[in-house]
Amino acid sequence: MTNRIPENLLEDILSRVDIVELISGYIPLKKAGRNFKACCPFHREKTPSFMVSPERQIYHCFGCNESGNAFKFLMAYERFDFPEAVEFLARKTGVILPEKEKRTQENISITTQLFKINELACAYYQKSLDSETGSSARGYFLKRGIPEEGIKLFKLGFAEDKWDGLINYLRSKGVGLALLEKAGLAIAKDRGGFYDRFRNRAIFPIFDIKSRVLGFGARLLDETKGSTAAKYINSPESPVYTKGKNLYGLNLSKEAIRECDSVIMVEGYMDFIIPYTYGIHNIVASLGTALTEEQAGLLKRFTQNVVMVYDADAAGQMATLRALDIFIEEGMNVRIATLPAGMDPDLYMKKNGLASFKEMVNSAKSFFEYKLSVMKSRYNTKEIEERAMVAKEMLISISKFKDSIVKSEYIKLLAQELNVNEEALLEEINKIKGIKAPYNGQNRTVAKAPFNPTESLLIRLMLEESELIDSIRKRLEPTDFQDERTKKLVTVMFDLFSQGKTLEPNKIINYLDDSNSLELICKSAFKDDAYPEDKEKVVEDCIKLIKSKRLSHIKQRLQEEIRIAEQNKDEEKLHRLKDEFCELLKKGR
Ligand code: UTP
Ligand code: MN
Repeated sequence: MTNRIPENLLEDILSRVDIVELISGYIPLKKAGRNFKACCPFHREKTPSFMVSPERQIYHCFGCNESGNAFKFLMAYERFDFPEAVEFLARKTGVILPEKEKRTQENISITTQLFKINELACAYYQKSLDSETGSSARGYFLKRGIPEEGIKLFKLGFAEDKWDGLINYLRSKGVGLALLEKAGLAIAKDRGGFYDRFRNRAIFPIFDIKSRVLGFGARLLDETKGSTAAKYINSPESPVYTKGKNLYGLNLSKEAIRECDSVIMVEGYMDFIIPYTYGIHNIVASLGTALTEEQAGLLKRFTQNVVMVYDADAAGQMATLRALDIFIEEGMNVRIATLPAGMDPDLYMKKNGLASFKEMVNSAKSFFEYKLSVMKSRYNTKEIEERAMVAKEMLISISKFKDSIVKSEYIKLLAQELNVNEEALLEEINKIKGIKAPYNGQNRTVAKAPFNPTESLLIRLMLEESELIDSIRKRLEPTDFQDERTKKLVTVMFDLFSQGKTLEPNKIINYLDDSNSLELICKSAFKDDAYPEDKEKVVEDCIKLIKSKRLSHIKQRLQEEIRIAEQNKDEEKLHRLKDEFCELLKKGR
């Protein structure tokens, strides 16, 4: 597994954690024989097929095949990444992890200090909002429809109309100017000295998913006509703030996003705050920047389903079209709601209310319908060349789908909608850069093959009786197994055995980087149907069967090669192959 945390610490954590206790903290588990069961939290079902084994310390769902150990459970349920899952359980079990190698000691202290400074600044701006001078900003928030509770929840604040309000405050707290500048809160003057970046503005703190303050957005309080000042000034990027890696509001909305299994994506601070205030909690804002893959990835930890509600203006439309392709590329399901001209989600909510807002979101169009209608408004599809332009624009998005069936269905639909030739569309889609293999329009389904029963049984025996491993290992090579998934798993198991490691399934899982082998080991570990008492005999039979399968496989291949050599009249090769074949027959006996 790709991580810097030493394996022995991972095993240490796993030995101390109880998966039954961990999982029952999230879903109710019922005792069922040696195991516990529940309705699977990872797919919809009425009868429980999600099993947790206290002995093996693993779980497996016989419905959707989601499986793993305690780390995998947190990754699947909490959407933690691996290091997060490890850190979480390390804290829970009292295992002390080494400092992350990647970050130097100095860097750690800088990010910690920057978070601390941002925290202090946030509190300072909040306090200023309560002061007399803050009344203008407070009035502004209320006027825009943010109630008192909202002001508290979003930790809104006010930057006074002073050059050094924040600087003086933070210096009195012992914060150095260099750090203040690094945090983006102070700006160096040409002639020396520093001044506050944000002055006389309403403050919107920006949080990360863990609710740490990354930076701020600061809005003009009054837009006097003809003023050239930017409506919003934002914190610059800093060691703690990378714009393309964060989404505004996700710290508050992640639970609701998971529960609704969908997220509404908007552009601005207010487009997040107002709907949230009205009770729409599965929402995030991209803050006017172009959506990045990282942001899509961040959302994917909570849901696959996105509804974009960007401003109904040219910029919003451009940003939507670009974001579509990113979501599609990430394999997410994206729909687009369109607002009346000149509207944004903030205004729409205030004007039309919650029910209408929900309706608007529910009536979001598919990517296909949305993009096609935008393209049709931009081009005159009565003209052949322009129709071709529309087709090409559509194909760019269609090419981003990974699933060939989906791709071919969209191509079919596009051919119908534009009344163009489907073959020609297929030809064009293959010209698009970035598509790896040429796409020939054939449906390729990737149905998972069932696991080979003999091979699975052997895995199960090895898990039940580690004494058996040595004799199996002496007689079978990983390559003797036919199924790639078994091959991978056996390789890892033999490796661990030769290193003298114990072969507990929950620990083996740490070494598997392939979800198919993971599924295999968990499924095998849960098998408890009977087989003949005599394990040695069962092992013997399995080995024989696997060997003979392998042999017949090689035979088949050799015969095929011999046939080709005969066709080509390659006497020398033929001779060699026939020798090989005889050897093989001897071995088989
Ligand atoms: P909008 O102009 O749509 O802002 O920009 P808005 O959220 O509707 O603002 P209000 O309702 O007038 O207060 C969308 C987002 O783009 C960024 C901000 O993140 C804003 O929320 N933006 C916009 C800036 O960073 N600077 C600007 O000058 C304008
Ligand atoms: Mn707005």
